[in-house]
Amino acid sequence: MNNIKYMKIIKTHGNDILTSEGMETEKKCIQHGTFSVYDHSLFVTKMCLHIASGLRIKVNTRALVRGALLHDYFLYDWHIPSKVKNTHGFTHPGAALRNAKKDFQLGIIECNMIHRHMFPLTPIPPKYRESVILCIADKVCAGYETADGFKKRLNKFFRRLDSNV
Ligand SMILES: [Fe+2]
Ligand SMILES: [Fe+2]
Repeated sequence: MNNIKYMKIIKTHGNDILTSEGMETEKKCIQHGTFSVYDHSLFVTKMCLHIASGLRIKVNTRALVRGALLHDYFLYDWHIPSKVKNTHGFTHPGAALRNAKKDFQLGIIECNMIHRHMFPLTPIPPKYRESVILCIADKVCAGYETADGFKKRLNKFFRRLDSNV
């Protein structure tokens, strides 16, 4: 993955999002493992660009970047026990879309990307190629982040065992 190249594209199309107050909130909220929602959103956006360029899929790059950056713009920590925690998987695309619409101008592709990114957990499938790419990229990145968190916890556990020998 060409990080410098992808960051240049992301800053060109989404610098206002990256530097927004909402993203400051995302930096304080954990998504998976040790990844914040901000880290996850940036990782997913790079993965979307990687999939589109690797498979030579013609996309609206601006919409792809902005929809991916905002796909988890729900702005709360879903690990903190609350009413939303149990239904987070199903409800957060709607919350993210409402918040994103308040803070940014969104086109129909970005709206669909955000609203449908949890398919097949939420039953309505994505409509645009950018939304399908996001749906796949999100799952690839979430899997990596969760496995990374598990690996770190496992290493910590074995270090503790070693120190008790
Ligand atoms: Fe999500
Ligand atoms: Fe996500």
